[in-house]
Amino acid sequence: MKKIILLAALGILGLAACKTTVNKAPENVEKNLMKRADSVLALMSLDEKIGQLNQFSGDGELTGPVALRPDLLQSIRDGKVGSMLNINGAEYTRKIQKIAVEESRLKIPLIFGYDVIHGYKTIFPIPLGESASWDPEAVEKAAHIAATEAASAGQHWTFAPMVDIARDPRWGRIMEGSGEDPYLGSQLAVARIKGFQGTSLSDKTTILACAKHYAGYGNAQAGRDYYTTDISENSLREVYLPPFKAAAEAGVATFMSAFNDLNGIPATGNKDLIHDILKTEWAYKGMVVSDWGSISEMIAHGIATNKYEAGDLAFNAGVDMDMEGTVYLTEMKNLLKDDKITTAQIDESVRRILRLKFMLGLFDDPYRYSNPDYEKQTLLKPGFIDAARDAARKSFVLLKNDNQYLPLNPSVKSIALIGPASDAAADMIGNWSGRGEVKDVITLKSALETRLGAGKVLYARGAGFNDGDKAGFAEAIAAARRAEVIIAACGEAGMMSGESMSRADISIPGVQEDLIMELAKLGKPMILVLFNGRPLILTKIIGSVPAVLEAWIPGTMAGPALCDILFGEYNPSGKLPVTFPYALGQIPIFYNHKNSGRPGSQDKKFTSRYLDVPNDPLFPFGFGLSYTQFAYNNLNLNESSIIDDKPLEVRVDVKNTGTVAGTETVQLYIRDLVGSVTRPVKELKGFKKVLLKAGEVQTISFTVTKEDLSFYNSRNVWGTEPGKFTIFVGTNSQNTIEAGFELK
Ligand code: NOJ
Repeated sequence: MKKIILLAALGILGLAACKTTVNKAPENVEKNLMKRADSVLALMSLDEKIGQLNQFSGDGELTGPVALRPDLLQSIRDGKVGSMLNINGAEYTRKIQKIAVEESRLKIPLIFGYDVIHGYKTIFPIPLGESASWDPEAVEKAAHIAATEAASAGQHWTFAPMVDIARDPRWGRIMEGSGEDPYLGSQLAVARIKGFQGTSLSDKTTILACAKHYAGYGNAQAGRDYYTTDISENSLREVYLPPFKAAAEAGVATFMSAFNDLNGIPATGNKDLIHDILKTEWAYKGMVVSDWGSISEMIAHGIATNKYEAGDLAFNAGVDMDMEGTVYLTEMKNLLKDDKITTAQIDESVRRILRLKFMLGLFDDPYRYSNPDYEKQTLLKPGFIDAARDAARKSFVLLKNDNQYLPLNPSVKSIALIGPASDAAADMIGNWSGRGEVKDVITLKSALETRLGAGKVLYARGAGFNDGDKAGFAEAIAAARRAEVIIAACGEAGMMSGESMSRADISIPGVQEDLIMELAKLGKPMILVLFNGRPLILTKIIGSVPAVLEAWIPGTMAGPALCDILFGEYNPSGKLPVTFPYALGQIPIFYNHKNSGRPGSQDKKFTSRYLDVPNDPLFPFGFGLSYTQFAYNNLNLNESSIIDDKPLEVRVDVKNTGTVAGTETVQLYIRDLVGSVTRPVKELKGFKKVLLKAGEVQTISFTVTKEDLSFYNSRNVWGTEPGKFTIFVGTNSQNTIEAGFELK
């Protein structure tokens, strides 16, 4: 109590938590924050300062290998913990917070962090799926709901968004991000940050966000998680860093350093990356946390002999907080004694952490996020459930619809529902599903039965996700023979993607392909609904199945959202945020590749091609069908040549040529024909979603700015170069119309 009084005397308690996002606090607010942080800092012993830089996991849910560490609760009492992860629920967080604020000498509140990746209790589609909506507003809304629920359950901080660009679908964590494109990735990173953090971190519906994993983690060689990355500075700046830069500019509260070795220096010990680029070049004011144990993992990387050296590397690189590593706790005093680090550096990191605690309002009321009644009222609110349904249907991508088998006739007499995903609640929420519960999930089977009546749904599982047993085929085929329409719900189990879930074979697993082929042989109207956390290779089955709907891992409201699409109450509008390869051997394959000196042509020797498969993917980036069709005409640029600073106006007529209303995502790409470094054959620079009634035409306009035409040149300096450009506008990255202009 004595200290609380002292803090109050210093003007800390009772001050309204500031209304601001992290990198953008107005000068007076920033000054005030710093004053408050400094007043606490002045009271702290060296041990207490080091304690603030330490984060421990709770024992309940572990999201990494456990390290040996001192007794948890005693460590909190001793002021050796600044933050905890994996402590959940208003009641439990309150109990742990009480120890910090009543039993530690300085009574500094803890920050509680958790992986709120696609929802806390109400589970939304996986981030890759949500990204297929190309709808920043919907993505922001989902993040805001996740933040509201998490904050009501005592959380202050989510380790999201993951903004790693990923071009290798073997990598299981591709499910956590926005796919392959830096532009789309940046837009959606900002949307998620806005959703989590809102406009005021002191608001009880917001939490701190974390841009992770800084940087290059998605480039893991051979798609193997945690594996090495080797990325040129130009590619780093052009492809992998833009979403992080956008996140910093949007005021993301924290960054997480990545596990990977980046060009020989693990990201967690990479001074160029964290100190020079993030904290200096981008003037980032938030806090950097390591990934789980990533500081001590520098020993296995072979860049540090022991924890002391690993701590030296990480702290001097700019990592402020050690997640579940005990490195700072045990090594920092010695590092200071040996002049490897300075007190000023420690103070600076502690200040960054205290600043966030003030922003969250924790010094005003450490329990403000831990109120069990409010938690109960907040979780799974009907409005949240509706939003999850809407987000899911926006995420679905119609890949094929021969014979217009979709939408189904609402008075269909019988449907054979076959496949392991038909009634698999846990697999609908998948990996990183927070505190989502299977009992709250509505599966496709249950939603179809509710809609049509149980008698009309002939269900047979047919096979498991990943087993070799065909014993269920006979029953499935018999059911399919009796039904008017077949729906095959197949794909990956929910835990086949995510951390440490890389796959070397990314076809539909187990015997499911055989099951699909057997069903297709019946020649009936058949729809394959695919569930997966990554692009799959569908080449073997795609020719045999008339209709395919990509459903990703759709979340709590999987079934109702799918029924909305299947019965035509919602016209599919999702577009792939990532390329679907034709063959495994094409990986990495992405739309914004370079041209090469011998651009590929399958039937021409001495060109960049394969003998056995085309260069093209099965489905390109940006692809997605609708129940209607769209025609693009009259692409018009307001100038044929522009001078440096003048924006270019691009207009195009988009017409709904079908018979039902539909939403199209109009995509704009550019190509810089000649540069001082080679440029990609196409780069996304804008997109707009437009709802068109049947027969309606709208003129869609884009403004292309100097920023859009800029790139990192041969000296890695950002800017434009004069020369010719092509503008492409269209329905996906391959199907476009084009026009040219010159930048003078
Ligand atoms: C390791 C993962 O790489 C990271 O994304 C996650 O936030 C932490 N574990 C905490 O669970």
